[in-house]
Amino acid sequence: MLGQQRIFSGIRPSGDLHIGNYLGAIRQWLKLQDDHPAESGIVFGIMDLHAITTPHEPEKLREATLETSLIYLAAGLDPKRTTLMVQSWVPAHAELAWVLGTMTPLGELERMTQFKEKSRALGDKHGIMSGLLAYPVLMAADILLYHTDAVPVGEDQVQHVELARSIAERFNNRYGKTFAVPAVMVQKETARIMSLDDPAKKMSKSGESERGYILLTDSPDAISEKVKTAVTDSGKEIIYDPVNKPALSNLLVVFSEFSGRPVKELERDYAGKSYVEFKAGLAEAVIAGLAPLQSKFRELERGRAGVLDILHAGSERAAAVAGQTLAAVKEKIGFLAA
Ligand code: AMP
Ligand code: TRP
Repeated sequence: MLGQQRIFSGIRPSGDLHIGNYLGAIRQWLKLQDDHPAESGIVFGIMDLHAITTPHEPEKLREATLETSLIYLAAGLDPKRTTLMVQSWVPAHAELAWVLGTMTPLGELERMTQFKEKSRALGDKHGIMSGLLAYPVLMAADILLYHTDAVPVGEDQVQHVELARSIAERFNNRYGKTFAVPAVMVQKETARIMSLDDPAKKMSKSGESERGYILLTDSPDAISEKVKTAVTDSGKEIIYDPVNKPALSNLLVVFSEFSGRPVKELERDYAGKSYVEFKAGLAEAVIAGLAPLQSKFRELERGRAGVLDILHAGSERAAAVAGQTLAAVKEKIGFLAA
C-alpha cells in the first residue's frame, strides 16, 4: 500500500546538482513526501561515503555536503515529514556494508555498468580503488538498514538497487527474514535526462563540457546561454521522436517538466516555429521553474547554522532505526554481544 511504503534514497555530494538530478530524483521525492504520512518512514541521505569512491578534495566535499543539504531544503523537502541525514554520521552504514561485502560475489560487482564506466574513466591515471568496486554494497547497506520498500532513483541506479535486492534475498535465505526486499522506483519520462551537448550521453557533472548540463544554481543568463547552444537534430520540425530526434526529444521532456505542459501541447504550440523560438520558450520555462528553488536556496545560504541542526536531528533519528537493524544482523551472524 502506497501510504505505508518506507522510502530511502540519496545523492552523492560531489558538486553542484543539475536538472538531471532534480527531474530524475528530487522531484520524485517531493511527490512521495506529499503522498505519504510523516510517520511512514521516508529517509533521504547525503551520501558522502559514496562521494569519496572517486578522487575528491576534502574542502570541496565539506562544502558540497552542506550545499546538497541546502538544495534538498530549497527544493521543498520538509524535515518534519522526512528524515534528512548525512551518511557518514550514521556508522551503521559502513558497518553493515562490511558484513554484506562478505556475502557479495566479486563477479556481481565487476559486472556493474557504473563500475565499468567509472573505472574506464579513471583509467591508469588515478588507479581503481576497491571502494569503487564495493560502492553498490554500501548502497545496499543504505537501503536495507531502513527496511526500505521502495527506492526512487534515476535509471543509472536501477542496476544497483537490483543488486541490493539480491543481497537482501541472499541474507534472508541464509539467516532468516531480516531485510525487506526493496523495489526500484523510476519516473519513466525523466529517468534519464540527456546531456545538452550530446544526446547519446546522460546529463552528468563528469561530462567533459559545462554546456552539457544546467545546474540548479545556474543564473538565468547561464541557463539561456546553455539552452541556446544545446545541440539539436537535423530537420526543422519540433516533434517528440526519441529515435530520430533524440536531442530535441530530450529538450521537449525538460520543457514539459518545467512548464507543466504536456509534450503534445508543446508540439502543437511550436508547430511551424523555429528552433530559436522553441529554445527561447524552453529557457524561460527552466528559469521560471527553478526560480522558487533558487530564491529559497539563497535565503537558506544566509542561515547555514540551521541546516546543521536539521541534519543532526535527522541523522539521530536515522541512527536509531539503523542501529536496531544492525544489532539484529550482528546477532544473526554470530557476533558476541558487546
Ligand atoms: P548522483 O549525482 O549520481 O548521486 O545521482 C543522484 C540521483 O540523480 C540518482 O537517483 C540518479 O539516478 C539521478 N540522476 C543523475 N543523473 C541523472 C540524469 N541525467 N537523468 C535522470 N536522473 C539522474
Ligand atoms: N549511488 C547513488 C547515486 O549516485 C546515491 C546513493 C547512495 C543512493 N546510496 C543510495 C541512492 C541508496 C539510493 C539509495 O545516485
